[in-house]
Order: sequence, then structure tokens, then C-alpha cells
Amino acid sequence: MWKYKELLPIDHQESVISLGEGGTGLHHCKRLGKKLGLKRLYVKNEGENPTGSFKDRGMTVAVSKAIEKHRRRVICASTGNTSASLAAYSAKAGLDCIVFIPKGKIAPGKMIQVIMHGARIVEVDGDFDKALEIVVKLVADRKDLYLMNSVNPYRLEGQKTLGFEIHDQLDGQSPDAVFLPVGNGGNISAVWKGFNELQQLGLSRDKPRMIGIQAAKAAPIVHAIRNHASRVLPVAKAETIATAIRIGSPINWPKVLRAIRDSNGTAETVTDIQILNAQTQLARDEGIFVEPASAASIAGLEKMVGDKKIDRNDTIVCVTTGHGLKDPSIIDRIPTSRQFYNLTGNNTDQLIKQLF
Ligand code: F0G
Repeated sequence: MWKYKELLPIDHQESVISLGEGGTGLHHCKRLGKKLGLKRLYVKNEGENPTGSFKDRGMTVAVSKAIEKHRRRVICASTGNTSASLAAYSAKAGLDCIVFIPKGKIAPGKMIQVIMHGARIVEVDGDFDKALEIVVKLVADRKDLYLMNSVNPYRLEGQKTLGFEIHDQLDGQSPDAVFLPVGNGGNISAVWKGFNELQQLGLSRDKPRMIGIQAAKAAPIVHAIRNHASRVLPVAKAETIATAIRIGSPINWPKVLRAIRDSNGTAETVTDIQILNAQTQLARDEGIFVEPASAASIAGLEKMVGDKKIDRNDTIVCVTTGHGLKDPSIIDRIPTSRQFYNLTGNNTDQLIKQLF
């Protein structure tokens, strides 16, 4: 993504801390598209980033900025991916990294990343919203801490390259709609910023509709959009199997509402069952394995196609935000049958008959 360096706010090339982020695949999903009656369905698979999520786009810029600003200690609250990414980039940069996470609510794949990269981990007795509140207060009091959540503007500058890449990979066209899972709302606002910049630079005439998808029991943005509200009211006790977006009080809410409304987009909820079904379908029809939060974008598209809210001739991009290996804990909730066979040594003939 550093090929877009002229549009990124880093002054000195030698400050750049990179692990090779960006350049992820835009996959034309013909089999899944056919099932949904869509000819031009694409998945932008952000799980292909170095630490397995889109966060790396933001982190390479924000950590590089920390170096330029001579900051030595970085901090974040996280549902998992931000902390995994920050821990990796901090390791590369030699920064002291402290992450605050909701105890027992982090997917195991993310936890092992944070541990391996050597960050210090504070387990908060409470949810992500509580962890972020604590971190924001700490940063206000202590000048030695540099906040790396998506209120850090350099994070969003990096994440806007997601929009640039989609446009490039569609041969200089913007899609009609982009579906994204929404938690804190940084990513949907960043991608919208990317498409706006392309238009301001005269590189694109059109901009896509931004469609934000949230889990049914963690959907403060969807409620605000449905109610035409000017503010987002927090949801208490947010809950979903998609732990990455288990967020009741999205800190970037004003930007999310703007992105959705200015783009003539919308927001939709999906249930955990719909998420798990979409995750399995994408894995089996397209060979793309994503974590539950990411599958929310596919589940949201499926719901809106079912409700006849999508023009079947549209070019649709679903952003899948994190790799499936992040969260193996859902193994017992996979919705379709698993195909296991037993080879004991003396049942070979029987097994061959069963298999073929
Ligand atoms: N998808 C995944 C896989 C995520 O990890 C996140 C956010 C989102 C979507 C939502 O993005 O917050 O920009 O709207 N994860 C954060 C974290 C909160 O701490 O890793 P958003």
C-alpha cells in the first residue's frame, strides 16, 4: 500500500515501519454470486494482510508516525485484531506496547499473536467499551502514552488505501456498493474517505454506497440509521459470536453516520446464525476463510438481496476484514455437517466404499 505514499501523511520515508501490508486480493466470487443472482460480486479479502486483518493498513502508518514523533510507548484497547497488529508493528519498531482487552472475549488466534509479539496485556474485567474508556482516560492524563485506537487519525489515513485498491483493482471504476462490518466505525469512514479523495483528485467520477453491517445485539449504528437519529445511543451488554465487533458504544459514530448518509448508503443487522452460515458458504463456495465479524458483510448482502434491496446488475464489494484462523473457537458451531471418516487399519475396504 506504500505505493500510495504521496497520499499518506509520513514525511520521511526512512521512518516507515512496514510488514508488507495491503495489496490484498479482490476476488470475483462467481459461485456465490450465481447463488445470489449477482454477476459482479467481489470479496476484498483483508485477511491476506501480514497479521491477518485490515488493521495493518492503519498500523503501518500510525506506528511510522509514532517513530516520526519520537513516541516510545503505544497503547490501545482492542477486541483482538488491533492489539495483534499493534503488537507486531511495535515489535518491528522496537516500541513498548501495552494492550487492554476484555477478559475472556478475545479469539484465541488473536491472543497468541499478541503474546508472541511480546506486548504487555491488561485483561479488563468488562467489555471492549469499558477497556476503551479506561485507555482514553489514561492517555488524557499521561503524556508518555500514544493512543493507537482508530481515533488516531493516522490509522484511518492508512485504512483509506482499502478504497484506493478496490478502485484500482476494478480498473479505475468505483463499485456501486461496498459492504463492511462495523464495530467502532473507523474502517467504514476511512474507506469512504479514500473514495472521496479519488474523486477530489479527478481519478474517479463515482463513489459507492457505503453499507455498514452490525450484529443484531451490537447494532447502535443500525438503530440510529433506521431512526434517522442525529446521535448514536450506546447499546448496553452488546453480544455476538463475532467478538471483533462486539461493541456497544462506537467511538467514531459521527463519522460513520456521515459516511453512510453522504453516500446514500444504509446499515443492516445480521444474526449470529446468519453470520455462521455466510462464513461457511464463503469458505465452501469460494475458498475464502474469514473470521465471523468479516462474514457479517456477506450475511448482510445476502439479507438485503433476499429483501430485494440490491440491484442484481450492481457491482458489489464485500470487505472481509480478518482471517478465519483468527477464531477457531467457533468449530462446534459450524452450521453444516462435517465430513469425518475413521480409518482403523482393518476397515479399508468398507471406507473406500463409503468414500467413493
Ligand atoms: N472486522 C474485524 C475483523 C475487526 O477486528 C473489526 C474491529 C471490525 C471489523 C470493525 O472495524 O471498528 O473500524 O468498525 N476490531 C477492533 C479491534 C475494534 O480492536 O480489533 P471498525
